[in-house]
Amino acid sequence: MAQSKISIASLASLLLLALTITIEAKPKQQKQTNLVFFMHDWESGDNITAVAVAGLPNKPWKPLAFGTLFAIDDDLTTGVDRKSAQIGRAHGLYVYSALDGSDCHMLLSLVFTSKEYSGSTLEIQGADRLLQKSREVSVVSGTGKFRLARGYATLETAFLDLPNSNAILKWNVTVFHY
Ligand SMILES: *[C@@H]1O[C@H](CO)[C@@H](O)[C@H](O)[C@H]1NC(C)=O
Ligand SMILES: *[C@@H]1O[C@H](CO)[C@@H](O)[C@H](O)[C@H]1NC(C)=O
Repeated sequence: MAQSKISIASLASLLLLALTITIEAKPKQQKQTNLVFFMHDWESGDNITAVAVAGLPNKPWKPLAFGTLFAIDDDLTTGVDRKSAQIGRAHGLYVYSALDGSDCHMLLSLVFTSKEYSGSTLEIQGADRLLQKSREVSVVSGTGKFRLARGYATLETAFLDLPNSNAILKWNVTVFHY
């Protein structure tokens, strides 16, 4: 009698263990988040945010010139106006990576500073084919609220002053995360 009591107890704990494992193995539900904001890429004038740091030898280092590498720390704002509310900054680099100037390869961290996403980042990589009206880059990962994030962002040029190398990009990020 005592023996069967023990075996029932151990059976029950085994069942409980199996149940726990099953619950833990269940995948967590993913959330979808959409973020729309503007990136201010200023290479001249007041408060420069993008600087050419490398390029082809004996060639000018400038936008659209193949091989020119920029380091950037661009404002991300809610509106197209540079003075609208800041939600974060784009830290990283881009390199003009098409011989004909049609592509700017981006490697950026979007570092959020406002509200619920403060301190979280999204990692961006992709071909900004800047001559197209609308183009896409990948969201390859993220940190904080965006751990294990994946997604994409559509980019549109909202303002362009090519002679002075200044531009405002509209970002529309769609991201899946936990
Ligand atoms: C540049 O930064 C200064 C100091 O933060 C600010 O007063 C000024 O309005 C900024 N200029 C532009 C064009 O954003
Ligand atoms: C952002 O992109 C999503 C899906 O890609 C779209 O449904 C939405 O209308 C876009 N929002 C803006 C403001 O462009």
